Amino acid sequence: MKLFVINGPNLNMLGIREPGIYGSESYKDLCEMIKKHAADRNIEVDIFQSNHEGDLVDKIQSAYGVCDGIVINPAAYTHTSVAILDAVKAVAVPTVEVHISDVSKREDFRQISYIRSACDTTIAGHGFNVYIEAMDYLIDKYGE
Ligand code: DQA
Repeated sequence: MKLFVINGPNLNMLGIREPGIYGSESYKDLCEMIKKHAADRNIEVDIFQSNHEGDLVDKIQSAYGVCDGIVINPAAYTHTSVAILDAVKAVAVPTVEVHISDVSKREDFRQISYIRSACDTTIAGHGFNVYIEAMDYLIDKYGE
C-alpha cells in the first residue's frame, strides 16, 4: 500500500510558528514520525509540503492511479480552496483531512472546510498524532 501525506502552507514552520497552538516539534520531526509509522505498518509513504495552492493541486492530481490513499492537511487552504476540493474529487482516491489543532474550537473562519465533503473523515485536535490516526484509518480500511 502507498499513501501520500500532503501538507499545505506554513506547516514547514512547525516548531517556530505559534508553538502554543501547534507545539514545539519541527516539520522534520513530523516527517520522521510519519516515516517511522509507515515502516512499522509496512507501507510506502510519500510526504510533500508546499506553500502554493497550484503545487498542492498538482500533487493531488499525481495521486491518480499511483497511490491508495491521501492524508492531507491543507492548512489555511482548508478554509478557502475550491481548487483543492475539486482535485480530491477528480482523483477519487480515499482521503482523510487532518488538522493539528482543534479547528472546531477556533475562529469562525476556520469552521468552513471546503475539502471536508470529499474526504472519508476528518481528524483534528490531537497534535501530530492526527497523522498517525489518519494513516491507520486508511491502512485498516483500504490496505491488504
Ligand atoms: C491547521 C489549521 C488551519 O486553520 C491553519 O490555517 C493551519 C493549520 C492545523 O493543522 O491545525 O495552518 O490546518
